[in-house]
Amino acid sequence: MCLENNPNLVDSFGRIAKKLRISITDRCNMQCVYCMPSNNTNWLEQDNLLTYEQITRLAKIFVSLGIQKIKITGGEPTVRGNVEDLVKSLSSIEGLRSVTLTTNGILLKNKIKILKESGLDSINISLDTFKPDRFKAMSGIDGFYKVMDAINTALDENLPVKINTVIMRGWNDDEISHFVRFSRETGCIVKFIEFMPLDGTGIWSKGLVVSKKEMIEKINNDFCKLNPIGNDKADPARLYSFEDGKGTLGFIPSITEPFCQNCDRVRITADGRLYTCLFEKKNYDLKRLLDEGKSDAEISEYIRKCITEKPEGIIKIIRKHDLRPTINVMNTIGG
Ligand code: 5AD
Ligand code: SF4
Repeated sequence: MCLENNPNLVDSFGRIAKKLRISITDRCNMQCVYCMPSNNTNWLEQDNLLTYEQITRLAKIFVSLGIQKIKITGGEPTVRGNVEDLVKSLSSIEGLRSVTLTTNGILLKNKIKILKESGLDSINISLDTFKPDRFKAMSGIDGFYKVMDAINTALDENLPVKINTVIMRGWNDDEISHFVRFSRETGCIVKFIEFMPLDGTGIWSKGLVVSKKEMIEKINNDFCKLNPIGNDKADPARLYSFEDGKGTLGFIPSITEPFCQNCDRVRITADGRLYTCLFEKKNYDLKRLLDEGKSDAEISEYIRKCITEKPEGIIKIIRKHDLRPTINVMNTIGG
C-alpha cells in the first residue's frame, strides 16, 4: 500500500483513522474500581493542559486529515469548566459529522440543555448498577440518584443517550437483565463493556471478565431472542436487537473478540499527547509542537507519521498471552 499519497491517516496495517477521542482532564469526581487509581494525587498540572483553543486547532487539523467524529472524554469532562464552549467550537468545524461526550453523569443534569444547544449530538453516560449501595462500592460516590436524574433529563430533552456498562464478575454481573429491561423500557442503547486491563487499581484479572458470549447466553435465557444488527465493523460495539423490536444492546468484546483489525480511533490526552492505541505506552507530544509555534502543515505531517506507527493492538498482547492488570490507565487516556 502506498502511504505517502493517501490524504487520510493510514497505519501500516491499512487501517484509516476516522474517530478522535479527546480527553480534556484526567481528573474525576468518582473513583470507579475499573479505572481510577485509589487516592490518586498524581494529576496533570493545570498549566500543562491544552486550552480549548489549542484543542480546537488540533481538531481542525485532524478533521482535515479525515477525522469524521470527535468524542470528548476524561477523566470526567464535566469537572473541567465550560465544556459546552468546547462543544460549540468543535461542532462548528466544517466537515466534522459528530461531537459526542462520555460522562459519569454526576454533574450533568444542569448542563444538558446548554450542551445540546452548543451542538452536542449524543451522550454516553456510564452506569454500572441500579443499586445505590453498589454504586457507591463501585465508584466511591453516593451518586446513583444524580446519575439517574441526569439520564432521565437527557431523555426528556431528546438528547440521544447511550449507557456504558462495564460488567465485572461478582460485582454487577447479576444485573445484566436489569440493564436489558432498562433498554427495552427507555429505548436507550445499553453498551456492555468487557472489563479491560486499563484499571488504575491493579485488580484486573481474566476471572473478572464476563464475555460477550456469556452475556448473550444469559440474556437469551431471560428474554426473547437477540439478533445481531450487523452494524458498522469499525464501531467497537456489536449491536443487537430483540425479535419483538424493543431495546437495543451493544457488546464491546475487547478481550474475548478483539476488534483491532477494524480500529479507526486515535486519542489525545488532556496534556496533548497522541495515543494511537489504548494499550500502547508510546505516545507523541502534540502540545510541544503547538508551543513551538509549528504550522498546521508541519503538525499534519507529524500526525500522519505518528499514525503509521500505530501498533496492531490488544489482539497482539492476547496472542502473546501477555494480558496483565493496568497495561494503561483509562482516566488518563479517556475511553
Ligand atoms: N474496562 C472497560 N471499560 C472501562 N471504562 C473505564 N475503564 C474501563 C475498563 N478498565 C469505560 C467506562 C466509561 C468509559 C469512558 O470507559 O465505562 O464509560
Ligand atoms: Fe471517573 Fe469515568 Fe474513570 Fe469512573 S470510569 S473513575 S467516572 S473517569
